[in-house]
Amino acid sequence: MQKLTFPNEFVWGCAASAYQVEGAWNEDGKGPSIWDTFVHTPGHIVNNETGDIAVDHYHRYQEDVALMKELGLNSYRFSISWSRVLPNGAGKINQAGLDFYDRLVDELLKYNIEPYACLFHYDLPQKLQDKGGWPNRETAYLFADYAGIVAEHLSDRIKVWMTHNEPWVSAMAGYFAGEHAPGIKDVQAAFKALHHLLLSHGLAAEAIRASARQPVKIGITLNLNPVQPISSAKKDKDAASRMDAVLNRSTLDPLLKGTTPIQEFAIGKMLSGSLIKSGDLEKIRNLDLLGINYYTRTVVKYDPKFPVVAGSQIQPEGNEYSGMWEIYPEGIYELLIRIWKDYFSEQPSGNGSKARIPDLMITENGVPVPDGLDFDGRVRDERRIRYLRDHLTQVHRAMDEGVPVKGYFHWSLMDNFEWAHGFGQRFGLIYVDFKTQTRTIKDSGRWFAKVIQENGFEC
Ligand code: FCB
Repeated sequence: MQKLTFPNEFVWGCAASAYQVEGAWNEDGKGPSIWDTFVHTPGHIVNNETGDIAVDHYHRYQEDVALMKELGLNSYRFSISWSRVLPNGAGKINQAGLDFYDRLVDELLKYNIEPYACLFHYDLPQKLQDKGGWPNRETAYLFADYAGIVAEHLSDRIKVWMTHNEPWVSAMAGYFAGEHAPGIKDVQAAFKALHHLLLSHGLAAEAIRASARQPVKIGITLNLNPVQPISSAKKDKDAASRMDAVLNRSTLDPLLKGTTPIQEFAIGKMLSGSLIKSGDLEKIRNLDLLGINYYTRTVVKYDPKFPVVAGSQIQPEGNEYSGMWEIYPEGIYELLIRIWKDYFSEQPSGNGSKARIPDLMITENGVPVPDGLDFDGRVRDERRIRYLRDHLTQVHRAMDEGVPVKGYFHWSLMDNFEWAHGFGQRFGLIYVDFKTQTRTIKDSGRWFAKVIQENGFEC
């Protein structure tokens, strides 16, 4: 047995997002978001389920924060619903919406749980989608206004601000694959959306810094996957490298190097003149904290049918799978080493200067398990414990090799509404009975609590 120990100041948290947990979709003056519209259109979500009530966190936040305390979390990453604060996306502020986040933040601080506030987790105000959504450049400026308003109200207590959760997913799942709201399938719209989401990060960073009432850290959270070719054939390797450019470098390069790989692709060349205006890339590169969401790897084979990358994802044999993905713990190590090596430990090619090193954190990592209560009321989710142990071991391995990871947020605190999968995929350390809203800490939650308490674990 060996004990893996983490640094004393290591950040241990859980993550969640507004639409997935809050419910209260039309209460206290909240305006509709694109997710409200999307779920209310039959055929988009498994069993036509909705987040109208979700796990009722809007009304049960005190009980939920008490559970965080019981787990011993020192941090909580949550998102703020833009249309709860600004029902039309811009203009009149809904004070009742801000009040909810006031109460939540105060409750967290009461227990010394550091709030990590994320300003956008997929739920664009519907009114802004009506004006074109993220493919419309104007949305980026409105996002910065919203960020400034929220920072003005909450930055006396919130020190860490994440602008976006997974801008790549917002753009590609929402505007290209159409699996997420607003359900559009248009490759050009998706690339426009991605650029404007990144631009809005830079603009919001400036706005938050301008209105902050104390020194703050500005971060962003990215979905990143190590990409591997299925074989050593040149065409598979080239396809993997294109996939990596579109999946990972399309967000990492602008944020960390001030360049973009998009122009390597025909669609990027076509769009770049009108899309990427002079000064945009400099604005985007404005970061104190890089959040990494890791779930799985992407194994690629050459496939000319697939647009842009001419490669498609295949599911390799040999590993365990969950309800959504292949389970590949080494990937979190490979990703951390790659990011460190490509962006921080060597002189980046980019626009010359070496990237300022932001704090690195895992801001999401977790697994869906079809959990249920056993006869005695316990949830014995062995698979999640194994998943946690294996992934934390790989994070520690990367740290041993010099990558300064500062924290780990588990996805998620509680079972919740998993987007197009509805309530069918349970990711929580806390089991939720969706009918009664009763919460039960799973065995994995107890295991994680012990890790936090001991700042490590035996393996
Ligand atoms: C991430 C999302 C999060 C959740 C997990 C499973 O991509 O950020 O909301 O859906 O996947």
